Formats: sequence, structure tokens, C-alpha cells
Amino acid sequence: MFYMYDYVLSLAPAGTEALVKRFLDEVMPKVIAYIIFIWAIVGFYYLFKYIFLVLSAIWTRVLRPSKNLVRSYGAWAIVTGSTDGIGEAMAMELARKGMNIVLISRSVEKLEATAAKIKAKYPKVSTKTIDVDFSKFDAKARAKVEEEIKEFDIGVLVNNVGISYPFPKYFHELDQDRVDQLITVNCTSTSVMTRLVLPALVKKKKGAVVNISSFAGIAVSPLLSGYSGAKAYIEHFTRAMNVEYFDYGVHFQVQTPLFVTTKLAKIQRPSLLVPTPARYARSAVAAIGYEAVISPYWGHALQLFIYSFIPEWFMGAWAIKLSHYGIRTAGMKKEARLAAAAKTS
Ligand SMILES: NC(=O)c1ccc[n+]([C@@H]2O[C@H](COP(=O)([O-])OP(=O)(O)OC[C@H]3O[C@@H](n4cnc5c(N)ncnc54)[C@H](OP(=O)(O)O)[C@@H]3O)[C@@H](O)[C@H]2O)c1
Repeated sequence: MFYMYDYVLSLAPAGTEALVKRFLDEVMPKVIAYIIFIWAIVGFYYLFKYIFLVLSAIWTRVLRPSKNLVRSYGAWAIVTGSTDGIGEAMAMELARKGMNIVLISRSVEKLEATAAKIKAKYPKVSTKTIDVDFSKFDAKARAKVEEEIKEFDIGVLVNNVGISYPFPKYFHELDQDRVDQLITVNCTSTSVMTRLVLPALVKKKKGAVVNISSFAGIAVSPLLSGYSGAKAYIEHFTRAMNVEYFDYGVHFQVQTPLFVTTKLAKIQRPSLLVPTPARYARSAVAAIGYEAVISPYWGHALQLFIYSFIPEWFMGAWAIKLSHYGIRTAGMKKEARLAAAAKTS
């Protein structure tokens, strides 16, 4: 510091030494004090911000009691895509909370198996199954759902059904059916199911709609662009609907899971960061009726927090070069092998 002081003084043009010395002695200490003061304020702001974030994350994901869903919203919950993975686990968890469940999926046998599982574990819970293929959710199928749910006091709708790619691909490599289904199964199902239940929720001025998005809906996911875009629709739609229906007492929530051990994720072994569907569903159902946007499982929230510090260009480059491209290459080889085998048989 003294060395710097003498050095700056030695640079002063002849005749200005006294002025520079006065500046260094009187003005500089004040400037340095102000800078330290501003740094301290900024430092404290971030310290308190992150302490608050950690405490509120612990509160919302570990300590906060879940709502009484039957009393708050109604006796029945509808879960789409409820015969496997997250949807089936959410149906079980909602049944554990005492809700009756409308199960909607495409396979009658799997629907009956899920309904039987619920009945075996929670004998007091009633179930209703509706078989619908959301990739063909035409006027007839919509009318069928409307007719079959009209007698129930619907309180919660979980728009869970969703499909991704069989494996990462360039968009032009997808067949046209898959391109259509990414929109119909992920987006149209969510919009139409919401439209079907809303009049009753608006009338009784209560209800909760939970839409399942994905990390791909908030982060750039190259080689999964169609899925990423479809999930971004779910994110934005839900956030707007939550504000739009606030005065009607209908709560909208978008949940953003990361990996869960399901058929869609093609991951079998759970870990702290990759929960089983049942573990995810515990956190997911406990969060219903609170925030408009949440990643309810703590391990996912932690990953999202860390990713928020990584620039989008880096995440995108990492995803395409180091992760998705390799999976695509292996997938393309397998697809070619299967096509060749099908030709020869
Ligand atoms: N698993 C993850 O790591 C992960 C991560 C982020 C977001 N998500 C989202 O979470 C949601 C559930 O994913 P998941 O991993 O649980 O999927 P999953 O294990 O593949 O289960 C999907 C469910 O949807 C049903 N379904 C699929 N296509 C359908 C159609 N056309 N019509 C009617 N039902 C249909 C399936 O029925 P079948 O049994 O008959 O196929 C099954 O019950 C999706 O929206 C997904 O995007 C999942």
C-alpha cells in the first residue's frame, strides 16, 4: 500500500505533488471506505438471500404440512397417464391422502391393475377407470371423458401424461407420428383436460390443477427439442392460468421434475438425486396448492439451483456434445439393427 502511495505520488506532474498528496491523504481513504461499504451491503444481500433460499427450501420440501386436499378442493382426483411411473405413484399417494381417484390411461388391463392396487392398499378409496389414448383425443374421446366424470366432485386434476423421444435425435430424424404425438400427448391432453374440468371448479370456486413439466421445459435440450418445446408450453400455460384463475379460487401449479426412475427416463436404479416414482409422488402431492411453480423433490431442487449458475450456452453444448449425441448414436445403431432384423424375418 505504501509502495503504491509513493509510486502514484512519483507519477504526479511537476508542481502538482501537493495536490496529489492531498487527494491521496484525504479523498482516497473515503473512496476506499465507500467501496468497502458497498461491497459489504452486496455481500450481506447475497448471504441473506441464500440463507433465506436454503431455509425456505427446507420448509417447503421437508417441514411444511400438506393441505387436506379433500376438504380444500373436493373428494375426487383425476390423474392422466396413471398406469405407470409418476402418474401411478401420484394416484397411489392421492389415495393415501383419502381422495377417490379417476384413472385415465390407454390400456384397460393396466388401468384395472392400478385400480386393484389402490383398492388393495386403501379399501375405503373409490376408483373409476377411463381408457383414452391421448394421441387420438378426438371429439368422441373428449365427450366420453366429460360424460364419465360429470357425476364426481372433482377437486384435483393431475395432467401427468407425457411422452418424449425413444432416444435423442435430430428433429428431422423423427417420424411424423412422433412429431404430432409430442404435441397431442403432452400439450393437447393438458389443455383439453383442463378445459373439461374447469367449469365445475369455477362454479364451486375451488380446485387444484397440477401440470407435470420437465427440466427440458426450462432448459435448452438439444436433440430433444420437440419434447423441450412441448414442456415449455406446459410451464408457461400453467403460470398464466394460475394468475387468470386466482379470483375463481382455482390453483394451478407446474411441477418440474428431473430424472425419476421410470420407463420414460429409462433409469432403474434410484439415488438421492434420482428418486423412485413413489418418493417423487410423496413430495409432489405434499406441494399441491402452494407455489405456482415448483420442483417438489429436494434432490431435483438442489440440481436446479446448481444449474442456475451455469450459462445456457454451456448447458446446451454439454447436452449435445457430451450426453445426448452419444445416446443418439447408440440408439440409431440399435434402430438400424432392429429394422434389418424385421426385414429378414
Ligand atoms: N421420468 C422422468 O425422469 C421424468 C422427468 C421429467 C418429467 N417427466 C414427466 O413426467 C410425466 C410422467 O412420466 P413417466 O416417466 O412417469 O412416464 P411413463 O413411466 O412412461 O408413464 C407414462 C404414463 O402415461 C401413459 N401414456 C403414455 N402415452 C399415452 C397415451 N397416448 N394415452 C394415454 N396414456 C398414455 C402410460 O400408459 P402405458 O402404461 O399404457 O404406456 C403411463 O401410464 C411425463 O409428463 C413426463 O414428461 C418425467
